[in-house]
Amino acid sequence: MELVFTNTAYDALQVDIIAVGAGNDFTADLADLDALFDGNLSDWIKTEKFEGKVGTTLKFPTSGALQAPTLLIVGTGNGDASSLKTAAGHAGLAARRGGADSLALCFGTLTVELAQTVAESALAGNYCFDRYKNEEKRRSGCSTLTINGIEENAQAQANASIRASWQNVARDLVNLPPADLYPETLADEAKKLARFDHVEVEIWDFERCKAEGCVGIVAVGQGSARPGCLIHIKYNPPGATGHVAFVGKGVTFDSGGLSLKPSSAMQTMRCDMAGSATVLAATGAVAELGLNLRVDTFIGAVENMNSANAYKLGDILRYNNGVTVEIHNTDAEGRLVLADCLLQACQTEGVTHVIDAATLTGACVVALGGDFTGAFTDDDALYGDLAQCAELEGEGLWRLPLHKPYAKMLKSEWADIKNVGGRAAGATTAALFLQNFVEGVSWVHLDVAGAAFSDKASSFYESGATGQMVRTLTSWVAYRAENC
Ligand code: BES
Ligand code: MN
Ligand code: ZN
Repeated sequence: MELVFTNTAYDALQVDIIAVGAGNDFTADLADLDALFDGNLSDWIKTEKFEGKVGTTLKFPTSGALQAPTLLIVGTGNGDASSLKTAAGHAGLAARRGGADSLALCFGTLTVELAQTVAESALAGNYCFDRYKNEEKRRSGCSTLTINGIEENAQAQANASIRASWQNVARDLVNLPPADLYPETLADEAKKLARFDHVEVEIWDFERCKAEGCVGIVAVGQGSARPGCLIHIKYNPPGATGHVAFVGKGVTFDSGGLSLKPSSAMQTMRCDMAGSATVLAATGAVAELGLNLRVDTFIGAVENMNSANAYKLGDILRYNNGVTVEIHNTDAEGRLVLADCLLQACQTEGVTHVIDAATLTGACVVALGGDFTGAFTDDDALYGDLAQCAELEGEGLWRLPLHKPYAKMLKSEWADIKNVGGRAAGATTAALFLQNFVEGVSWVHLDVAGAAFSDKASSFYESGATGQMVRTLTSWVAYRAENC
């Protein structure tokens, strides 16, 4: 995909679709353009009752008045940055659905920063996953995206297209069927990151996980014919002073294990490696952008299956830090796998901050829906930094309580803790479980269960994976590389 920044008049733009932003004051916003159509555009807007609301679009055939055959009026509401990003996403989506090969966005004069995020949103909207459909039914996304209203800027254009493409890599990984994406193939995808400078990838196979005492990966993974593994991506640019770690839940399919999920809840459980796709893609973006911060990324990759060898209720796992866990529900498997990875991340010399991403609880989906990732942390400053990055990227992030008194819900009669609380505050008790495996670092747990995947199209995301938080995490690394 080619991304172009330019300042070009409407009638000189040679693209399939020109998307023009029009907000609450849409008559003024479209005055110049309306003149080119002798007032026919404003008549059409009246007929169609377009009001400039964010998330609404209106198509208008240009009938030869412009080189572009189609004009798309996109609602930009009050015209603030978040409205423009949403509007750009909807333009990307409309271009995809209309089969356009090239799209130009005209949202007035933009700053470099805004031009970048607007481009990234448009590319997020332009994505869909149809490689398993019959060839005739496939509609590839645009091959060129033009952002009008900003001077050419090679660096900014490259940055935006790198970040957008990694978001879509995460989505591809999540959308792939579990027959094609399982622990070993996920590890193969991670290994591809070694093509970038200063990146090394180390895989601990199932035997090695046993030898290293990764009891969570071993317990959850042992029920599957596909051996689990621990994936470690190391990005170590020379001269970096800061050092952080990412951890991702890579459950490539979650059947629930012996605590079997009903069929309806299992249908979308290929999405259960979305946390790992998020951190893998963010690490890829960081490496390709060449950001100056050391990043170690740990992914616990397993399939949670049923078999004669599956782990059982009442089993007790003894983790590397001495904490013992009694299994009360084999469907609370993500936290078991993350525990091994968090221990590895915290033991990595020099790491000061750890962020994990996981499709951890249905409770988080119930609480926040698809537009927000849940964040749990004791570190207000770290949350503040992340929230600022999320705001900049137009990705929803919402803090939920890491409320210590609820830790008593995890008490076990036979071990130190059990792997489930009760029905109440399920997302919080899952986070509190993880906190038993965090030591000596600042830590945020991101529950992406709602935001990472939806079986229905929502906002400007086509159904399936969204890749939310890839750009936020990348921005956070960029921010730390510059400021910490
Ligand atoms: N992978 C699921 C969580 C999930 C649910 C992700 C819906 C995406 C959409 C997780 O492993 C799980 O099964 N969690 C259980 C925990 C319970 C047994 C304590 C849940 O949320 O029901
Ligand atoms: Mn589960
Ligand atoms: Zn799961």
